[in-house]
Formats: sequence, C-alpha cells, structure tokens
Amino acid sequence: MPSPHDSSKSEPVIDCRSVYKIFGENANRMLRDAGGNVDAQTFQNAGCVVGVNSASFQVYRGEMLVVMGLSGSGKSTLLRCISRLTETTAGEIYIDGEDLLAMSSKQLIELRRNKMGMVFQSFALLPHKTVLENIAFPLQVKGKTTAESMQRAMDMVKLVSLDGRENYYPRQLSGGQQQRVGIARSLAVEPDIWFLDEPFSALDPLIRKEMQDEFLRLQGVLHKTILFVTHDFSEALRLADRIAIMKDGIIEQLDTPANIVLNPATEYVRKFTEEVPREKVLKIESVMDPIGAETDFSDLTISKDVIIETVAEAVLAETKPVRVVDKDNNIVGSVHCAKMIHILFGKDDAVGTGGGYDPFFQIQTETGTVFGDFDRFFSVDTSGFA
Ligand SMILES: Nc1ncnc2c1ncn2[C@@H]1O[C@H](COP(=O)(O)OP(=O)(O)O)[C@@H](O)[C@H]1O
Ligand SMILES: [Mg+2]
Repeated sequence: MPSPHDSSKSEPVIDCRSVYKIFGENANRMLRDAGGNVDAQTFQNAGCVVGVNSASFQVYRGEMLVVMGLSGSGKSTLLRCISRLTETTAGEIYIDGEDLLAMSSKQLIELRRNKMGMVFQSFALLPHKTVLENIAFPLQVKGKTTAESMQRAMDMVKLVSLDGRENYYPRQLSGGQQQRVGIARSLAVEPDIWFLDEPFSALDPLIRKEMQDEFLRLQGVLHKTILFVTHDFSEALRLADRIAIMKDGIIEQLDTPANIVLNPATEYVRKFTEEVPREKVLKIESVMDPIGAETDFSDLTISKDVIIETVAEAVLAETKPVRVVDKDNNIVGSVHCAKMIHILFGKDDAVGTGGGYDPFFQIQTETGTVFGDFDRFFSVDTSGFA
C-alpha cells in the first residue's frame, strides 16, 4: 500500500485554491456577481453550467487522491483544470509551487511532457502502431533516439506485464491489456504527477479488480503523486490515500477512506457508505485499543495497516488480546476478540453499515469462539461441535 503523506513535512505538489470552472458565455460576469456564492440552479437558469464550484485542496508527494462522484459531478472538469486542458474560470492552481494559470503555452507543453502523465477511460492508442511503438511514441516526441525510446518502452512493457505482446497491435489486445499499454505509455516519460480519469471504468469487473491490484503494486514501486478519478466508491476505497467526494462541482468531503466511512459529512456521502461493510475498508489501526497496562498478550501479532477482514478470523481465535504493530515492529495497540465481534456484528449505526445486529449465539470453545446466527453464520473453529 502507498504510504500516506505527512503534510507537515512537505510542500504540496498540487495546490488548488477556490477553483471554479463555469461553462457558458456569461460565466465570468455571473461568477463576479455571485461574490463566490455559486448556486448551480441559478447559474443554469442563466444559461451557465457549473463544472467545478470552489474546489480547494492539496495533494502531497507520493499521495494518491481519488476524486469520486456520480456522473456529471465535475470530476473530469476538475482534472482538466489542473492539467490545464481547460481554462479555469477563477481561482489559483499551483504545481510544485509554480503558478499553473500564469504559465505560457510553451511552459505548459514542457510541463505536460516532462511532469504529467495522463490516462483516460478511452485508451486512445494509435491503431497502426504496435504496443512497443505506442509506448515509445511520447519519448520520440520528446526527441529521444529510436533505440533509446524502444529500450525504455520495453522496460515499460515488462513493468505492466505485457512481455511477449510488444509487437501486437491494439486490436489484438483485450480491453485490460489495451489499458496496460495506456498506463505504460503515460509512465514512459517518468511523470511526477499522474492523472487518471476513470482508467478502469470501461473494463469488466474481474479485469477491473485485477487492474486495481496491478495499479497498487505499481504505485508501491513508483510512489507517484496521483489524481485518480472514478465514479466507483469501492474502487476509491481500495485505491485512495484520501478521497474527495464531489457533487454538483463541490467537494463535499475530503478525507481518508476510513474517516469517510466512519464519519460521512453529508447525506450524499453517507449514501455511498451505507452498503460498505466496515471490516472490508477499515484498517486495524482505526479500531485498535491504545496500549494500556496490559501485558498478557496472545502470541499472534498483526500489522496496523491490514484490512480488518483479512485478520478477523485469526483474532477471533485468540482468547488474549492481539498485539498490533507498525512497520518497524513497534507495538502500537491491541485488539481483543470481543472488540472484533463488536466490529463485525455491533450495533453502531454511526459507522454507516446500515445497522448491525447481535449474534444469535456465541460459544467459547477450547480453540476459540464460535458465533453467528442462522443467516450469517460466522465460525472460527467448529471443532468444538465435533
Ligand atoms: N465543455 C463543456 N461545456 C459545457 N458543459 C460542460 C462541458 N464539459 C462538462 N460540462 C458540464 O460540467 C458538468 C461536469 O462534467 P464532468 O466534469 O464531465 O463530470 P464527471 O466527470 O464527474 O462525469 C456536467 O454538468 C457537464 O455537463
Ligand atoms: Mg468524467
């Protein structure tokens, strides 16, 4: 998993301050008259469409910010403002401290060629070029020699696991493979900032999951600063260090996946979190107890960064509290099986699981706890019934 940023230590790579994008002839005048208080309906009545409404946020080095929202909520427009594919109506945008909106077109071309990588939903591959040629293309545009470009392209082919297919044409590849080419091409120029607009949305669910895993693996190696757009909340939860949830051009909430699930800021956000089982998204860290006077721990040790679901059974099998450690193996907390039961079955509507329920039974056996009900049987070790 990518490690979260430490905002206290670094300057933001992307810094947006009250960014507006209004479409329509009178956009500038309307915005001026509104005095920063933009109502989408009022603007629409006047023939303007609000794309982005006062977006302010920062993205830090090595961080992946996922912008999530329903279709039409302004995600692509926001991304286009930050890559300056569209002109922002008002606000300020800084890239590595440089004023993006003040850049000349020459500076912009340089910035896009050297610093920014982009991947879109439509793979946009050149049909008459092979995989290798497609990936090498941006390098050749930059003036690299053919030999150098091909060498680098081949490295990228390996990075996205397409070795053996480097001489195929796009039409000979599946959707997932074509998007791997798109990803490899965008990475060929070694961008610091990576923009991805619904890169996996055109892929079927199984391939999408595979691509997400692959993407996380890549980010684990590359540590890019990423702005990733999706309309899929579960995709956002899987990938993001932080998620910005958009509605009608407004960022309604920007927070870590865990905090969004635990404390949805608005009704719109809460609706997304409703169906999310918390054990599938929360890390042990967010539910562990602080270290107390306790000294009698089980032999099991778990990482604070694992998703609860992946260790739930193991924790339930322990009668003593389980130690939670950080990446340097320091003990940072503990989790008791009783807490785990509460997380999995507790009645805590505040976390937005749509209501929990009490286990129908709960039996302590020699080897662990067995509990559940007739609908949702959850067993740790049923050998006690033998
Ligand atoms: N070029 C444009 N001209 C007019 N309206 C646009 C244009 N591009 C986007 N919009 C409008 O801006 C809003 C946000 O669009 P978009 O950013 O594409 O949403 P998303 O990517 O979240 O689906 C929508 O209402 C859309 O119709
Ligand atoms: Mg879009």
